[in-house]
Amino acid sequence: MLDEMKRSFEPLLREYPSAASVQDHLVAKMFDCEPGTIVVGNGAAELIGALGLETTGLRVAVPVPTFEEYLKRFPGSDVIEFASSDPDLRPDLERYQAIADQTDIVVLINPDNPSGQCLPTEDVLALAAHMEGSGKRLILDESFVDFAEPEHCTSLLRPDVLDAYPHLVIIKSISKSYGVPGARLGVLATADHDLLSRLRPHRTVWNINSFGEYFLQIIGKYQDRYVASCVEIRAERTRFFTLLNNIPGIRVLPSHANYFLCELEPPGSATKLAAALLRDHGILIKDASMKPGLDGREYVRIAVKGAADNDVLVAAVHVVLSEPGSADG
Ligand SMILES: Cc1ncc(COP(=O)(O)O)c(C=O)c1O
Repeated sequence: MLDEMKRSFEPLLREYPSAASVQDHLVAKMFDCEPGTIVVGNGAAELIGALGLETTGLRVAVPVPTFEEYLKRFPGSDVIEFASSDPDLRPDLERYQAIADQTDIVVLINPDNPSGQCLPTEDVLALAAHMEGSGKRLILDESFVDFAEPEHCTSLLRPDVLDAYPHLVIIKSISKSYGVPGARLGVLATADHDLLSRLRPHRTVWNINSFGEYFLQIIGKYQDRYVASCVEIRAERTRFFTLLNNIPGIRVLPSHANYFLCELEPPGSATKLAAALLRDHGILIKDASMKPGLDGREYVRIAVKGAADNDVLVAAVHVVLSEPGSADG
């Protein structure tokens, strides 16, 4: 695919993309949905921002820790943060249902970022049904669902689900799933046509650039390869989990995404570990200790990459954590 994009570099650079409605058709084809139920955004971030402007005066429940745009982009709403009480930050259906009863909108990021934890498909559907029954909106972010074990959780971005739950809004970052964040592609899908008609005007006329459009035009040819690479990532994630979790001083949370949230045991410091890995080994990991909901606890987020890179990271973390004082708080 990269080669195909490179070959078209010049016309893509020199030509305008199509209008937003054409992009909606391309994404609808990709997910086998009605174009009328789709809004394509310049990354999911643009769509979260647009959605946040359409919820003024409402109570929006957002789990923490999570992708912080959900905390920042609902300026006119009463944003209610809620944390999981589970030590591994597992979400649970009853908690979500109880929160839904006290608010107007619930955000569920499934799998979550940064925990990688994931509510099973039947629970997500039960929550959607619970909220539909009371006319409340569920915002379901599925940006990482393609990495989940399919028997646990699969995508609900399907016409039958959208039709059955008009209050359900699905957001998916194509950037995240397909590893093309520079292309800035995200999708919002819902059968709530009134909401869609209010969201579309938030887009500028060419919100998707020509490279993003071309990606959408040709992705169909590479879909089998994409599905195969998700299988490979899941297998490598299992191997990597064992290696990381065997490092003394680290507790790795199980993950359905392409990263792990890891807790450092005392006296480990997330900030010092991240700094030492960058300075001494040229490896960048995310210091998650300052994320809302982690309350200054010592967490880092580590990406699942190819086996060779993961082995290098495991060796480097071993070295840093075994040097007295180098990652102590
Ligand atoms: C859960 C989640 N949703 C959406 C996004 C935004 O994705 P995009 O790059 O498509 O704007 C992110 C980015 O980190 C994310 O973690």
